[in-house]
Amino acid sequence: METAEDLRHFWDIDPASIYLNHGSFGPAPEPVRAARAEWTRRLERQPMRLFCREMEEELEKTTIELARFLRTKPDRIVLIDNATVAMNIVAETVTLEPDDEVLLTDHEYGAVRNIWSRFCQKSGAILKNVELPFPPGDSAVTEAIRQAITSKTKLIVMSHVTSATACRLPVREVCRLAAERGILVAVDGPHAMAMLDVDLEELGCDFYCASCHKWMCASLGSGFLWVHPRHQSSVKCPIVSWGGSIAGRPASWKDGIQWLGTRDPAALLSISAAIRFFTKDRLKLFRQHAQGLITEARRELLQVPGVGTFCTPNETDYVSMCAIELPQPPGWKPGYHGHPDPLQVWLRENYGIEVLTGSWNGHRFIRFSAHLYTTEDHIRTFISAMQTALQ
Ligand SMILES: Cc1ncc(COP(=O)(O)O)c(C=O)c1O
Repeated sequence: METAEDLRHFWDIDPASIYLNHGSFGPAPEPVRAARAEWTRRLERQPMRLFCREMEEELEKTTIELARFLRTKPDRIVLIDNATVAMNIVAETVTLEPDDEVLLTDHEYGAVRNIWSRFCQKSGAILKNVELPFPPGDSAVTEAIRQAITSKTKLIVMSHVTSATACRLPVREVCRLAAERGILVAVDGPHAMAMLDVDLEELGCDFYCASCHKWMCASLGSGFLWVHPRHQSSVKCPIVSWGGSIAGRPASWKDGIQWLGTRDPAALLSISAAIRFFTKDRLKLFRQHAQGLITEARRELLQVPGVGTFCTPNETDYVSMCAIELPQPPGWKPGYHGHPDPLQVWLRENYGIEVLTGSWNGHRFIRFSAHLYTTEDHIRTFISAMQTALQ
């Protein structure tokens, strides 16, 4: 039986770093990096052959493998650079009228909030922030969303696993609730890939946006958009290009998305290598290994006065990434991109530890994660550094 120790050599992480922020940017194992390099090599050797004669068929083969991984049909998935691009396509596709309401939970990712803020502003629709109960238990979350729905609600946008707060949201229940009322649901799912068993058919959403370069460890710059067949004929991409197959294949709803001008498809084509890397046993190993390490750190850090369980009160509430609440020292100000919490800088400068810190709804938090390459030593160093920082 393989262990995490057996698989660690597949990653090439700088030994000077203790990389506990896979949740932001997930490095890929060697077979994925090799597959990507090989696709780029093939492209450079004969661009006409790859772009015009091979690419569409190869993308289709990758899509078939991804669809199997996500228990859906390939004709519902289009490969795209990342979840951000996918969500922009959803926003371009959903026709918003003045006074329509778009509901976003207060845990949604900043860039996703920006997308909907812009599209609501343009159309005169109303962006409604739904404050979820704290901590966000499943039935209370569903109830909060139920109460926020009005006759004007057109769309609910919610994360499958949230970013800063690192908690799972009851997406299936909300989709059921929305479907009964004729409301659309767009799920923001990059963290769910490989962290959870995702069954896109069972979920019941209208759109699912994801990046494969987080827990699934595909190449950076690989993701997809899943669209229910009832919306495929109205899909619109904000980037306008040729809008047709270069290889002369029959027309498809994916045509306006697959070719967004000339770009290297290597990251997308190497998604297959990530799926093959994650055999069933490795997927299970990843989840157990990461959960164990994170839980060890969480248990120790919760002993420090002022540290709290934040949005995930139970050890079963998270898998490979966890956020805990930190005490707020006098004069502490919420950090933001480019200006992180001084603790984040201190951990990096003194121990080479990479984590995410931030503030959410007035709470100061630290988010840390683990993957197959994370070791017991990394976690012990992190715990001891944090104990020093917080004493
Ligand atoms: C919940 C969530 N949604 C969307 C995104 C955007 O992903 P990407 O930058 O890959 O487009 C992220 C990235 O961290 C995220 O955490």
